[in-house]
Amino acid sequence: MVEKNLDLRSDTVTWPTPEMREAAYKAKLGDDVFGDDPTVNELERIAAEITGKEAGLFVTSGTMGNAVCVLAHTLRGDEIILEHRSHIYVNEVGGLAVMGQLMARTVPGELGWMRPEDVEKAIRADNIHYPRTSLVCVENTHNSAGGIALTPKQLQADWDVAKKHNLGVHMDGARVFNAAVALGVDAKELCKYADTVQICLSKGLSAPVGSVVVGSTDLIKKARKYRKMLGGGMRQAGIIAAPGIIAMTKMVDRLKDDHDNAKLLSEGLQKIGIKVVNQVQTNMVYIDFSPIGWKADDWNKACRKLGWRSQASGTGTRLCTHYGIEREDIKSFLEELGKLVK
Ligand SMILES: Cc1ncc(COP(=O)(O)O)c(C=O)c1O
Repeated sequence: MVEKNLDLRSDTVTWPTPEMREAAYKAKLGDDVFGDDPTVNELERIAAEITGKEAGLFVTSGTMGNAVCVLAHTLRGDEIILEHRSHIYVNEVGGLAVMGQLMARTVPGELGWMRPEDVEKAIRADNIHYPRTSLVCVENTHNSAGGIALTPKQLQADWDVAKKHNLGVHMDGARVFNAAVALGVDAKELCKYADTVQICLSKGLSAPVGSVVVGSTDLIKKARKYRKMLGGGMRQAGIIAAPGIIAMTKMVDRLKDDHDNAKLLSEGLQKIGIKVVNQVQTNMVYIDFSPIGWKADDWNKACRKLGWRSQASGTGTRLCTHYGIEREDIKSFLEELGKLVK
């Protein structure tokens, strides 16, 4: 029996499965800063294997994972290229400027994808007046574009441009397994177009804490040192890495249910008269309820009344489907909501 978690705010709200709780309890532990925690080592090995990379590193969060990778690729004063609504640029507290003293060069994307010609235009020439461009960051799935899955072909196009100019490529793959499932490809097919990838364990994969980053042995060695510098060197971390192993090995296939539920939700909301503003490819539905004359407060109150959590502002919000929300829950939510809208 799946414990109900009727919260549409994000997939970060997921609770660990009973198996994860048990794995945490029984995890074999050691001091991970000494490299002695067998459970962390196993998680890092599995992450590298699944993504086709040489090495992995367990970090506290997606934000830390992106930070240590960006730092591993760059030198102070470099410029890095990011999609203009990317999480790293918009939502990570300007860490790249504070920690890396980096310049951000943003490129508007098409559904989250930066066209290779736009990436190429953004790369600085070798000129005494200019900062050095050293890194291109891509995001997959792209959160604010609507949970859009970038295809291997799209990723390869940006990778080819980056490599032509000797730049590194980092993928914020917080939800890269959602992308792989939606596209029906192996995660390796997506990860091969990035030198480093950050993968969140605590979103749709339902682990309570953490992310893994993967890449070459050399880049992960650098990232490990930055993790220590940022205070992310954890000791008996196997207790939180154990659920991460289950996340990576047992929770990927079920993401399809979340995607199907998001589609069901999207179709049902449109029947009620609510506008869906994104292409629903994965687990996110972005809505605008102004066509039914509702404001944020009306939406929030309606959800609360039906026993769901959702947090709107203005005339819309993002809804995320995840572990803890079943198809039947979506059906009854739509039915009850329909009655409130009438
Ligand atoms: C695309 C993307 N990248 C990175 C992160 C950061 O992850 P965390 O909240 O674990 O720091 C998020 C979080 O929502 C995200 O959506």
